[in-house]
Amino acid sequence: MSNTIKPLIAGNWKMNGLRASLDQIRDVVQAISGSKTPDCDVLICPPVTLLAEAGVLSANSRLATGGQNCHVAQKGAHTGDISATMLADCGATFVIVGHSERRSDHGETDGLVRAKARAALDAGLTPIICVGENQAERMDALAITVVEHQLDGSLPELNKGEEIVIAYEPVWAIGTGEVAASSDIVRMHSSIRDWLLKKRGLRGETTRILYGGSMKPGNAGEILALPDVNGGLIGGASLKADDFVAIINAA
Ligand code: 13P
Repeated sequence: MSNTIKPLIAGNWKMNGLRASLDQIRDVVQAISGSKTPDCDVLICPPVTLLAEAGVLSANSRLATGGQNCHVAQKGAHTGDISATMLADCGATFVIVGHSERRSDHGETDGLVRAKARAALDAGLTPIICVGENQAERMDALAITVVEHQLDGSLPELNKGEEIVIAYEPVWAIGTGEVAASSDIVRMHSSIRDWLLKKRGLRGETTRILYGGSMKPGNAGEILALPDVNGGLIGGASLKADDFVAIINAA
């Protein structure tokens, strides 16, 4: 069943990109407008400074836009923060929550990630909830236990019609050029699928599970063909339209 899920190819620009980088968004919009583009959904999450304009450039195209984080409240006295409602107001339809860089840079806990995912859903956004073990945890053969624990703590209860995306990003593979072995990706994604089926019932059959961590044009085809890999969350290789489009074409 999970092999029938339409893939999502998502770019996370992180803290990269100035106004000149909007050209990359224009190029992606252009490249995926042709009829030969694979049947997948495409998303770019630029820094919030570029989100409104990215929303204008991608309006009425196949490219969706998203935020990289949101606050748990929809408005109020939280200097410097951005709410899910504000992201939606800029045209975003997704938001990444619980990325390992936010968990480590800002001490975000599973409970906070769950509250952010709930805020995203309340604002009409689809949260992409990130999980993944670090190097030491993998060495100790704790990867699956750690990820199950993160899923237990980070996923909100869902109301009818609400949708989430899970992104499995092994921390040691992010930005390092190291990619998890195919067998490890298959084992982890199948374990996440089992967890979803156990906890979410039939709805777990259709939840997308993305892989993230040094995905590039050269390895995307192999990773995206693995069972229960329903797309990718791509950092470095999403910054250049040519690379990102090559990954889209591999989907
Ligand atoms: P890289 O693709 O640069 O390894 O980053 C992955 C990531 O963290 C996406 O969220």
